[in-house]
Amino acid sequence: MAPEPSVAPMTLTTVVASTRPGRVGRSVADWFTARAAEYDQFESHTVDLRELALPFFDEPHPPALRQYTKSHTREWSRIVDASDAFVFITPEYNGGFPAPLKNAWDYLVVEWQHKPAAFVSYGGVTAGTRAVQMAKQVVANLRMLPIGPTVSIPFINELVEDGDFRPGKIHEAAAEQVLDELARTARVMRRLRSGTY
Ligand SMILES: Cc1cc2nc3c(=O)[nH]c(=O)nc-3n(C[C@H](O)[C@H](O)[C@H](O)COP(=O)(O)O)c2cc1C
Repeated sequence: MAPEPSVAPMTLTTVVASTRPGRVGRSVADWFTARAAEYDQFESHTVDLRELALPFFDEPHPPALRQYTKSHTREWSRIVDASDAFVFITPEYNGGFPAPLKNAWDYLVVEWQHKPAAFVSYGGVTAGTRAVQMAKQVVANLRMLPIGPTVSIPFINELVEDGDFRPGKIHEAAAEQVLDELARTARVMRRLRSGTY
């Protein structure tokens, strides 16, 4: 028998949106994933869009039908389906989020629905906040719940040393707020999906 939705462990998926060689995004994601792993409310794992290597959307049928014809789509569907909450680690490119992230969202519909989404953004003076505002419109369209707390990291290049992200206290505190809010909403939304709420 499947465990009762309110007590079964929840799966948090952290998605690395930047795919370029030399990116700092992976170091930010490694930091956040380590924090999430210390948090007992979630089983946490990272999906790196560079490693997932989805081609530009190449399914012939609308994703809402779930009639997938490609193994990469089935793999992505399985990962997202098994997730209870998401954290998108995103840079800001030209005032928006990077194209591979939109591509990854567009592949699926039902698998995203009624799950909370959080953002850790970084960039120059704007800290990736313009990318997050844009992204919130997209995730809401997929019926994810974009939560209020975010981690916003300005001047990211000054905080990466020898390939590692060096967070300040403010980032650590923001990460905790994000994880708290995700845990609260993810639990309720899982009951919503199971029809027990
Ligand atoms: C194509 C491109 C566009 C960028 N546009 C912005 C921008 O609009 N705002 C900003 O704050 N930084 C911008 N930057 C600087 C990035 O914040 C910085 O390069 C950061 O390291 C990118 O994340 P990544 O290394 O994980 O790819 C841009 C960088 C690139 C490569």
